[in-house]
Amino acid sequence: MTETPATEPAATETPATEPPATEHVTTEPIAFPQDRTCPYHPPTAYDPLREARPLSRISLFDGRGVWVVTGHTTARELLSDPRLSSDRTRPAFPSPTERLAAARNRRVALLGLDDPEHHAQRRMLVPSFTLKRTAALRPRIQETVDRLLGRMAAQGPPAELVNAFALPVPSMVICALLGVPYTDHDFFEEQSRRLLRGPAAADIENARDQLDAYFGSLIDRKQRDPGDGLLDELIHDQLREGTVDRQELISLATILLVAGHETTANMISLGTFTLLRHPEQLAELRADPTLMPAAVEELLRFLSIADGLLRVATEDIEVAGRTIRADEGVVFSTSVINRDERTFAEPDALDWHRSARHHVAFGFGIHQCLGQNLARAEMEIALLSLFDRFPGLRLAAPVDAIPFKPGDTIQGMLELPVTW
Ligand code: HEM
Repeated sequence: MTETPATEPAATETPATEPPATEHVTTEPIAFPQDRTCPYHPPTAYDPLREARPLSRISLFDGRGVWVVTGHTTARELLSDPRLSSDRTRPAFPSPTERLAAARNRRVALLGLDDPEHHAQRRMLVPSFTLKRTAALRPRIQETVDRLLGRMAAQGPPAELVNAFALPVPSMVICALLGVPYTDHDFFEEQSRRLLRGPAAADIENARDQLDAYFGSLIDRKQRDPGDGLLDELIHDQLREGTVDRQELISLATILLVAGHETTANMISLGTFTLLRHPEQLAELRADPTLMPAAVEELLRFLSIADGLLRVATEDIEVAGRTIRADEGVVFSTSVINRDERTFAEPDALDWHRSARHHVAFGFGIHQCLGQNLARAEMEIALLSLFDRFPGLRLAAPVDAIPFKPGDTIQGMLELPVTW
């Protein structure tokens, strides 16, 4: 089975090689991760990392020094390198926070596997996430978006956009795709929040247990009374045939559900905030909605909400004039990589007319986001319809009073009060 990749145009602006890392690597390592100072820019504390491209050192919460990749070419090279492992159960795997370090004992489907096991799982899922399958979901996404906007109009103004719109759109869509009842959304949104942002390791462990139990009983129910979601297909085609076992299926369902709603919800909330803070670019988009696909790509680059992809070296790797030794941790700071001026001219400007498509906001290599086609469709439809329905949309609180997420999780708005 072959994968239909997102069109990946040649990275014409990308130089073939990057200069070796500068001597900045020998200075005091910067602590990682840190909170953003502005929700749509990398933390200013990372500025020295930009100067030290493509590779330097950072220190994690426990004082451990690891490599940080900050150059675009080097990032794509290393993200394609099989000598970097994603297996979180390896003792040397880096943990960006204490709670993740303490909750590292369980295997994570897809994201936490290396090939060939990773490939075997991914192969089963790829047909459901192709461009063609995603295009077929567009009318349903539009219907969901319109219904939520209609409800917002009936109840407001004002509205809190995260709960009224940004979270329910991807949540409803991934439920429909998987065959998970949306009526359970309070439960699984809360567990996802604890998994990604719970204050203690116990939150992560307990959220995983609860999601395991939830999907266990959902699978049992579906075996008795099949529906027509992806989960039903996997039960019918893979579980029955023995190509996956029950625990593997539970783990796959969890990652699809969590990754499928939290990430896109953050892109919709932070994307809206960013557009409202860039009135010229918003006006341009309103005047020419055909710019929307390019705008989504640029927002993905600019916002880089999944900042800090993690790997561990399984062998020594020579790269950019340095040696990453076996068992050393490697972190990819997507926010800094996506502001590499060697690849993206004037990287701190939000510009719909650049070619942003080769950003690494969805990662790169074998783990490149499985749901990227779906995420793009959701963002395009959500943002276009939101500004269409509420032409006078504006923030309903002073900018400094609007809370956004801390640096140790997926970036986005905690709340987004709006009026129109
Ligand atoms: C704008 C929204 C999204 C962003 C920014 C995003 C970002 C990412 C990134 C950076 C990775 C790679 C992680 C790594 O290499 O360590 C990834 C992987 C993944 N994403 Fe997304 N994602 C988004 C939406 C989605 C959606 C809607 C789904 C739907 C199911 C999804 C499912 C996955 C899965 C299953 C993986 C693991 C793939 C693998 O390991 O082979 N994501 N995503």
